[in-house]
Amino acid sequence: MRLVLVGPPGAGKGTQAQFLSLHFAIPHISTGDIFRANLKDGTPLGIEAKGYMDRGELVPDSVTNEMVRDRLTKDDLANGFLLDGFPRNVAQAEVLRAILADKKTPLDAVLELAVDTAEIVLRLSGRRVCRNCGKVWHLEFEKPANPNICDICQGELYQRDDDKEEVITRRLEVYQEQTAPIIAFYRTEGLLITMSAVGSVSDITDRAISALSRVQ
Ligand code: AP5
Repeated sequence: MRLVLVGPPGAGKGTQAQFLSLHFAIPHISTGDIFRANLKDGTPLGIEAKGYMDRGELVPDSVTNEMVRDRLTKDDLANGFLLDGFPRNVAQAEVLRAILADKKTPLDAVLELAVDTAEIVLRLSGRRVCRNCGKVWHLEFEKPANPNICDICQGELYQRDDDKEEVITRRLEVYQEQTAPIIAFYRTEGLLITMSAVGSVSDITDRAISALSRVQ
């Protein structure tokens, strides 16, 4: 299964990706997570990405495309992959199509998680992440016993800088202006599956698995 997950910030891509990557036994490749891991390690890539991420802007294609091209050469992709957060504009979608065409491994499906803006703002503003193990919590929908401490590893919970209100607004604009056009791109390619991503996490996972089982 070679799959792209697309949807606005906070649609639940990362949450669903964990379960889908387990179900289909494929690696979860999140460009946002790769940038954040680089930032944590203080690499030049992480430091360059931080300025864009903190403003809610896209990291330049020249940087992002090479990072993904490199990741797609690794030898853990025999069963496929789940891309989360890439592509994020039509130019990136074209680059991905070319990389996969060279490898003769085209995409099987692009799953769009549809969620309305009010729900997105609720999800992003309540999100907290464990600094130690990376577990994603939500202060209302997936509540830790203590709002500052991870139930799993007792690590400190923090709010992503780009989950502050003013940055959320910009991320939503960038999604509409730059990312939403890839929906039409993939519809034309015959790869798009759109589903509602509202409801319980497990119901959404079941819906996604059932929709994707039809393309395998
Ligand atoms: P990235 O990390 O990819 O952010 P994003 O796409 O904005 O998505 P999020 O991680 O915010 O949300 P999500 O959909 O994964 O939701 P989650 O599952 O956490 O990118 C960050 C930045 O990196 C970008 O802004 C850009 O600067 C840069 N970048 C990344 N890729 C790039 C690229 N290709 N090109 C250029 N730049 C790039 O869920 C959110 C919350 O909701 C959680 O708290 C969760 O617990 C909760 N939740 C999930 N599901 C449900 C549910 N069903 N009901 C209730 N709550 C739920």
